[in-house]
Amino acid sequence: MKKITLGTPLSPSATKVMLLGSGELGKEVIIALQRLGVEVIAVDRYENAPGHQVAHRAHVINMADGAALRALIEKEKPDVIVPEIEAIATDMLVQIEKEGMARVIPTARAAQLTMNREGIRRLAAETLWLPTSPYKFANSLEEMIAATSAIGFPCIVKPVMSSSGKGQSKVDNADEVKAAWDYAASGSRVNQGRVSVEGFIDFDYEITQLTVRAIGESGETETYFCDPIGHVQVHGDYVESWQPMPMSSLALQRSRDIARKVTEELGGLGIFGVELFVKGDQVWFSEVSPRPHDTGMVTMCTQRFNEFELHARAILGLPVDTTLRAPGASAVIYGQMDEKGIAFNGVADALRVPESDIRLFGKPEAFKKRRMGVALANGKDTDEARARAKLAASKVIPVKA
Ligand SMILES: Nc1ncnc2c1ncn2[C@@H]1O[C@H](COP(=O)(O)OP(=O)(O)O)[C@@H](O)[C@H]1O
Ligand SMILES: [Mg+2]
Repeated sequence: MKKITLGTPLSPSATKVMLLGSGELGKEVIIALQRLGVEVIAVDRYENAPGHQVAHRAHVINMADGAALRALIEKEKPDVIVPEIEAIATDMLVQIEKEGMARVIPTARAAQLTMNREGIRRLAAETLWLPTSPYKFANSLEEMIAATSAIGFPCIVKPVMSSSGKGQSKVDNADEVKAAWDYAASGSRVNQGRVSVEGFIDFDYEITQLTVRAIGESGETETYFCDPIGHVQVHGDYVESWQPMPMSSLALQRSRDIARKVTEELGGLGIFGVELFVKGDQVWFSEVSPRPHDTGMVTMCTQRFNEFELHARAILGLPVDTTLRAPGASAVIYGQMDEKGIAFNGVADALRVPESDIRLFGKPEAFKKRRMGVALANGKDTDEARARAKLAASKVIPVKA
C-alpha cells in the first residue's frame, strides 16, 4: 500500500492544498484539511470570502483567467488543486495536470466536463447510456423555439453555464419561450448565450447520492456511498435537505449503479454529489458535482464524517468511513436584504431548538436570496429533524448593522 505522508504547515515539509473557490463549501473543506495539518491556500474572486477567513493564505483572482491562474499556481506550488466552483479556466487545469505541476481533484477532465451542462449530459446519456430527461441545446431564440417544440411542454430551460438555478425556468407553453430565453441570458455565468432545454420530469422526489472515491484497504481506488439525501429546491435552488431519504431498494440500487458509473468515468479521488430524480422504482440521472454538494451540508449533523471531511481524507489518499450516525436535516438561512456587513439576531433562540446547530458563513455581502448560513438539526426521524431545522433557521433574523 502506498505510504501517505503529511507534512507540517508553513515548513518545507508542508502538504499544500489550493482551493479554487472559497465559499461555504470550500470553507468547510479547508477546516477539515486544517485539522489534518495541511497548509491551505484559499482563492476566490472577491475579498474575505468564507474560506479566505480560515486558510493559511488568501488570494483574490479571476479564476476564469488561465494566465492569472497559472501564475498563482506557479507561485504557491500546491501539491493538490481542489476546484470548488465550476467557473474556472479548466483548459489551464488540464495543462497543469499534464505538466505534473499538481494533482487536480478529482481530475482536470472531470472539472472540464462538469463546468458545462452539455459536457456532462452528453457523457452521461450518449457515452454511458444512463437514463436522463430528453434534452437539446440551442444557441439562439430561433433554435430554442425549435428545441422546445421538439422536446414538448412543460420543459426546463437553463444556461449551459450556471448553478443554483440561476437563469433557469420552467416553460409551460410556446408563449413563454421568449421570456425563458431572455431570463437564461441574464443568469448565465459566462454570457455565451447557449442554453439546454430539458423535458420536465414529474418525479416523486429527488436525491443527492454522495459518492466517494477513496483508496481502500487493497490500495486500489474504491467507491463508497453515503445514505441518500432528500431535498427541496425552489426555482432550482436548494432550501432544505435531510438524510436518510427512504427509498425502495430497487430505486436505491439503480441510483447507486448510476452514481458508480458516472463517478468511475470521471475518475480520480474525492467526493461527488450525484443528483437523481426518482419516480417509483424509476431513476434518472440529472447532474453531478465532482466536489461536496450544497444539499450535503446536512452531513455536518448526520454522519460520523461529514462530506467535507470525507473529501479531505479521500483527496489525501486516506481511508474514509461513510457511516450515518443519526437522522438529520438542514434548512437554508437567506440574506433577506441587499446589504454589506449585516448582523444576525435570534441566534440564541435558534440554538434553543432541541438538537439544533447553525453555521453562519461570514459572507461580506448579503443579497435577498444569497445563502448566508444554514441551520442543522437531528431528531428521532427526518420529519422531526426537518421541522426543527426549519424552526431554527426561521429564528435567525438578518438585520442591517
Ligand atoms: N428536467 C427536469 N425536470 C424536473 N425538474 C428539474 C429538471 N431539471 C432541473 N429540475 C429542478 O431544478 C433543480 C436545479 O436543476 P439543476 O439542473 O440541478 O441546476 P443547477 O446546476 O443550477 O443545480 C433540480 O434539482 C430540480 O429540482
Ligand atoms: Mg443541481
